[in-house]
Amino acid sequence: MGKLVICDHPLIQHKLTFIRDVRTNTKDFREHVDEVATLMAYEITRDIPLETITVQTPVTETESKVISGRMLGLIPILRAGLGMLEGVLKLLPAAKVGHVGLFRDPDTLQPVEYYIKLPTDVQERELIVIDPMLATGGSAIAAITSLKKRGCTQIKMMNLIAAPEGVAAVQEAHPDVDIYVAALDSHLNEHGYIVPGLGDAGDRLYGTK
Ligand code: URA
Repeated sequence: MGKLVICDHPLIQHKLTFIRDVRTNTKDFREHVDEVATLMAYEITRDIPLETITVQTPVTETESKVISGRMLGLIPILRAGLGMLEGVLKLLPAAKVGHVGLFRDPDTLQPVEYYIKLPTDVQERELIVIDPMLATGGSAIAAITSLKKRGCTQIKMMNLIAAPEGVAAVQEAHPDVDIYVAALDSHLNEHGYIVPGLGDAGDRLYGTK
């Protein structure tokens, strides 16, 4: 079973309150999401491997650590995932970025992939799938399945807010994927919104409502 990590750093929790607040305007919402994404990037990379190298300081030669292992790939799910992308890139500027676009078929209610563009070496990278809201888990599961079909094996998920239903669905479908969230909320309502949540993340990021 993949682990669920709640990023409970006070700065993340403080900013999340303003993200939730219905009075927060589009500009401030986007800025807070960007900042939380940067802070979450710090948490999600906590376990990436290091190796020791020798470095010459102005004073002496010493051993010191640098990041080793797989290179990273960021996979925002369109469109709301884009709202967290730049914040993550601030800490991980060398990561490559792939995009996955999904819509929900109105008849089957299943996610349909309408766009995918990935780095050519994506299967050699450790991937972070980014989507602010983990609601039913349908999009996340479809995106991760799509990545695995292309040979990707090391995948983590980053969400601002998750519903227990979405976490359970992803953990069942992809038990190898760890999920990092800023908050685990109460439930989904009859319209598929996370409660208490923050409303529609895409609309609030881009002012489309
Ligand atoms: N997507 C959103 O943007 N908000 C929710 O609450 C659920 C899914």
